[in-house]
Amino acid sequence: MASLINKIALITGASSGIGAACAEQLAAQGMRLILLARRAENLNTIATQLRNKYKIAVHPIAIDITHHQAVQQMLLNLPDEWREIDILVNNAGLAAGIEKFQQADVHDWEAMINTNIKGLLYMTRYVLPEMISRNRGHIINIGSVAGHQTYVGGSVYCATKAAVNRINQGLRLDINGTAIRVTSIDPGMVESEFSMVRFKGDITRAKQVYQGMTPLRPEDIADAVLYCITRPAHVNISEMIMYPTDQAAATMVHRRTEKAE
Ligand SMILES: NC(=O)c1ccc[n+]([C@@H]2O[C@H](COP(=O)([O-])OP(=O)(O)OC[C@H]3O[C@@H](n4cnc5c(N)ncnc54)[C@H](OP(=O)(O)O)[C@@H]3O)[C@@H](O)[C@H]2O)c1
Repeated sequence: MASLINKIALITGASSGIGAACAEQLAAQGMRLILLARRAENLNTIATQLRNKYKIAVHPIAIDITHHQAVQQMLLNLPDEWREIDILVNNAGLAAGIEKFQQADVHDWEAMINTNIKGLLYMTRYVLPEMISRNRGHIINIGSVAGHQTYVGGSVYCATKAAVNRINQGLRLDINGTAIRVTSIDPGMVESEFSMVRFKGDITRAKQVYQGMTPLRPEDIADAVLYCITRPAHVNISEMIMYPTDQAAATMVHRRTEKAE
């Protein structure tokens, strides 16, 4: 397995869920981490925990990745010791609402398009040239099974993840001939803050999503990230689709009914 010690990973959406789990797994490998999200307090707490537990350097940056100029300035002005990003994990993203198209809130569409597509594009646009100039690096995009199948009320979220899939393919074409690798990891249901965000803090609805079934854990996705980035340099895992065993397709989930006491 290729050593990751002292290499630099930048993870977006590191304040919870899959991003925080990736931060933990990569910290355990001795990587140095740049952690991005909007909630500074969560980021700072995670950064302190990881520094103490793994004795690694962590550089938390509170930023909204939908702001193009802020992303550009942040990446162009990284301190010298943080400039050589080896691994970019484009993970920040959300689903907002699940109303049918005809009832959906246009602001929800904008939030998803701006974060899941545009934020990912801005990040990649300013990290990739440096990777190409060093001829070294790996971009991991967190897509979704929603990028492969559409479900009722999910047309725009699914469209954003289908866009991630196509961006992934296009990136691989454009960087072909370099040593840079591009991977898309596309999970099914993962228990994180995802459903709380989708249902805007409605904890009952959020819990129902995982009722009677065993979802993936954020750590399962972080494991997959670690697997992809530690393959030999000539191996590029282009796409990895992961379902919980209880989920057969985006819309088919096996749920056990709870036995009455
Ligand atoms: N959970 C699932 O079932 C599932 C399945 C397939 C794919 N995914 C994908 O996995 C990724 C991570 O989701 P998760 O399940 O870990 O959900 P989560 O726990 O809600 O985490 C989302 C992360 O994205 C960050 N984020 C959201 N908007 C942002 C913005 N504008 N700027 C910067 N950071 C932003 C959030 O941090 P702040 O709020 O602090 O900014 C948070 O750290 C997403 O791309 C999601 O679409 C999730």
